[in-house]
Amino acid sequence: MLNGKTILIGITGGIAAYKICELIRKFKKNGAEVKVICTPNALNFVTKLTLQNLSQNEVYVQEFDVKEWKPEHISLADEADIMLIAPATANTISKIANGYADNLLTSVACAFTKKMIIAPAMNCNMWNNRAIQENLFKLKSRGIEILEPEKGFLACGYVGKGRLCDVNKIYDAVCEDLNYSQKLQGTKVVITSGGTIEDIDPVRYISNYSSGKMGLALANAAKSMGAEVVLITTKDFEAPYKIVKVKSAFDMQNALNEEFDTSDIVIMAAAVADYRVKNYSEQKMKKTDDENLTLELVKNPDILQDLCKKKTNQVVVGFCAESENLLENAAVKIVKKGCDFLVANDISRKDIGFGVEDNEVVILDKNGGAQRLEKASKAVIARKILEYIHE
Ligand code: CTP
Repeated sequence: MLNGKTILIGITGGIAAYKICELIRKFKKNGAEVKVICTPNALNFVTKLTLQNLSQNEVYVQEFDVKEWKPEHISLADEADIMLIAPATANTISKIANGYADNLLTSVACAFTKKMIIAPAMNCNMWNNRAIQENLFKLKSRGIEILEPEKGFLACGYVGKGRLCDVNKIYDAVCEDLNYSQKLQGTKVVITSGGTIEDIDPVRYISNYSSGKMGLALANAAKSMGAEVVLITTKDFEAPYKIVKVKSAFDMQNALNEEFDTSDIVIMAAAVADYRVKNYSEQKMKKTDDENLTLELVKNPDILQDLCKKKTNQVVVGFCAESENLLENAAVKIVKKGCDFLVANDISRKDIGFGVEDNEVVILDKNGGAQRLEKASKAVIARKILEYIHE
């Protein structure tokens, strides 16, 4: 079942390193190509020869041990479909969370753009340490899956949470992710993100607080599920897929029209301004003696509604931001817009939605179904939204 898949395993210096030998054997038995990188400390617990024999590949330890033109940390990252770090020590976890690249394993982790799973193992007091928990939170919010350690007798003599989780659980998580990474293969997903910017004059504009992070998380998740991704955004993002930078609602609509016919799924996560100024001033508007200023606004096109009118086979997904009566307003909106799904966000809560890292949403479908996704990082919510739509 793992034929054609390359699994990159990073082993760090913990006693549980010996358990990874069994895991490598299982991956190999099921057809995977396995590449192993060890930190120098990992070799205190398991030998290079054992790992070499089991993986039937060279075992990588040192940086600058150059054999080919392409640096190893880049080619190892490029070749693999998934990266697993197990056991992951507190030290390696903290380095990866903070972008350090001081050995081959952390350099590869830094260059790795696909799915990463980390299975920590350490002393229970280290696990409970605030710094380690904060670093784990950082990794989770970037979409890295953490397989939490289990409680039990620890090699250091303590009893508590810190043992590497069951290797069968690690095996299942890797298989599930490899399967997930193919779910949207052959599908073109177009996503919009950020608040549109409606110019008033050369120095002023109307916009909103949307950070574009939810749309970015959706685009990243779609990419990791194997889709061809186009992100149409008002923000300056860099990503390994096509990004079209736009400004106003009109720009966004034009960019969407370019992509729409060839797309399979369109997700409107952008916060589109409902109105723009009627008369854009070519020159900077001057302050006058009047105490009041009235700007006349005219309606922007409803991009989502227009797309839904002309859609053929595309699945069209809208977002809705509500500050009160979330479900009632969303139920009216999905009918009015005519979209297949509507992801409803409660923007009255400060801990989710606009500008922050987490979200909690309800997905409505056009047949009246509703699914709540409990509060999680935007990366996790994005992944669940795409899985729900896919199913
Ligand atoms: N939307 C759009 N074009 C607009 C306004 C909104 O395509 N001119 C899309 C948004 O991208 C989102 C959905 O419509 O996917 C709902 O946006 P929301 O701001 O919640 O709804 P509005 O239609 O603007 O209604 P209201 O502001 O009255 O709640």
